Amino acid sequence: MTTSDDTEDGEPTRREFIHIMAGVTAAAGAGATLWPLVDQMNPDASVLALSSKEVDVSAIAVGQAIKVMWQGKPVFIRHRTAEEIAEAEGTALSALKDPSARNENLAADADAEDANRRVDPNWMIVVGVCTHLGCIPLGTSSGENRGDYNGWFCPCHGSHYDIAGRIRRGPAPDNLDVPPYEFLSDTVVKIG
Ligand code: FES
Repeated sequence: MTTSDDTEDGEPTRREFIHIMAGVTAAAGAGATLWPLVDQMNPDASVLALSSKEVDVSAIAVGQAIKVMWQGKPVFIRHRTAEEIAEAEGTALSALKDPSARNENLAADADAEDANRRVDPNWMIVVGVCTHLGCIPLGTSSGENRGDYNGWFCPCHGSHYDIAGRIRRGPAPDNLDVPPYEFLSDTVVKIG
C-alpha cells in the first residue's frame, strides 16, 4: 500500500517538498536579515569623516602642547621649540630603547630617528597612550610633568618619553605611536 508521501520515480514526496520549501523560506529570511547588517558595515561618508579629524594648530604657541581626541584615543600635538628640535635630532639612535619609528606614515622598518617621527620638525604628533599598560602620559600642558627627557611622563609606573615621543626610561617597551596624519595647510592638520 502506498501513501501520498511515497514516491516511485525519485521526485520529492509531499512531506519532503514541505521541508524543502520551509528551508528555502528560512534561507530567504536569513538573507533579508543579513543584508542590512552587511550594508551597515560599508562605511558611508559620515563614518569616514569621523575616522579623521582636522585640527587648527594656529593657536598653539611654540613650546606648548594640546591633547585632542581621535577615534577615541588621545593625540598629543606639541609645538616644539628650536632647542627641542635640536635636542631630538641630536639624540643618537644607540641611546634609544625602541629603535622603531612606529610611524604609521612610514614603512614598518623605519628607524626612530627624529626625522622619521614627524612630518614637520616643528610639530610632534603622537598617540597619547603609554605603551606599557595604556595610561595617558602627562606633559601635554605648558611645561609641567614632562619627565626626565622633556617629553611626556607616565606616572603609573614611571615611563619617560622624550621630545619625539620615544621611550627613554621605565617599563614601557615601545615609542608612542605616530598616527597617520597630513598637513592640509600651514595651520591645519588632518589626523587619520
Ligand atoms: S602604563 Fe605607563 S608606565 Fe605603566
